[in-house]
Amino acid sequence: MNDVKVYAHRGYSSVAPENTMAAFRRAAEAGADGLELDVHLTKDGHVVVIHDYTLQRTTDGTGRVKDFTLEEIRRLDAGSWFGEEFRCERVPLLEEVLGLAADRDLYLNIELKNNQYPEPGLENRVLELTERYGWTGKTVISSFNHHSLRKVKREKPDLDTAILYMSHLFEPWEYVQRAGLSSIHPYWPTVTKEMAESCRERGLPLRPFTVNRAGEMRRLVSIGVEAIITDKVETLLEVLRDD
Ligand code: G3P
Ligand code: CA
Repeated sequence: MNDVKVYAHRGYSSVAPENTMAAFRRAAEAGADGLELDVHLTKDGHVVVIHDYTLQRTTDGTGRVKDFTLEEIRRLDAGSWFGEEFRCERVPLLEEVLGLAADRDLYLNIELKNNQYPEPGLENRVLELTERYGWTGKTVISSFNHHSLRKVKREKPDLDTAILYMSHLFEPWEYVQRAGLSSIHPYWPTVTKEMAESCRERGLPLRPFTVNRAGEMRRLVSIGVEAIITDKVETLLEVLRDD
């Protein structure tokens, strides 16, 4: 079996509601190597796992995450929008996912979702919790907010930090090295064989997102990416078994 790592995007989000403990547990049970998750700060400074900066798409609440306390957010139903059987799912705390990762020995990709509006203190809170769980060695912090990643790197130089970007970036390996960061998480259509080679030569892990079709997974495996971020954990595991 190929050693490309499988990161479950927002957990195993094609079979359970994204960014819930159900989705993270299902990813672990299916055999994913790592979990990708998105984080925001609550009004009272807790780090919660939710993709959008508003509540309405994935919970029965409305409004901005940052305007509610943890207690208020924890009352919301974060599962039944996906299926009635997930009605008991809550918006997780980062601590819960760190606990699961430590129990199941999983890699974590924590995405700081602070590219829509500033969330002062998010970087430090995430670092503090990751250290408290002893999980910095198996964690990569990613963000579309590259200023925020520089801040993380300044605080914790050994921690893996990955730029996220959607479009074509000229020589992303140069950009990452110049910024003092360490990994590249590009939108998958922008990834070429030459890019994979340039990253490999410089020891920069390349982990494309979000790859859900088997044909595209095969192409990326063949050019030697380090990991693939996917909603379809079992499809990717099957591709890797056949490789
Ligand atoms: O980490 C890659 C991917 O999660 C970034 O996009 O919108 O799914 O958070 P999004
Ligand atoms: Ca994400």
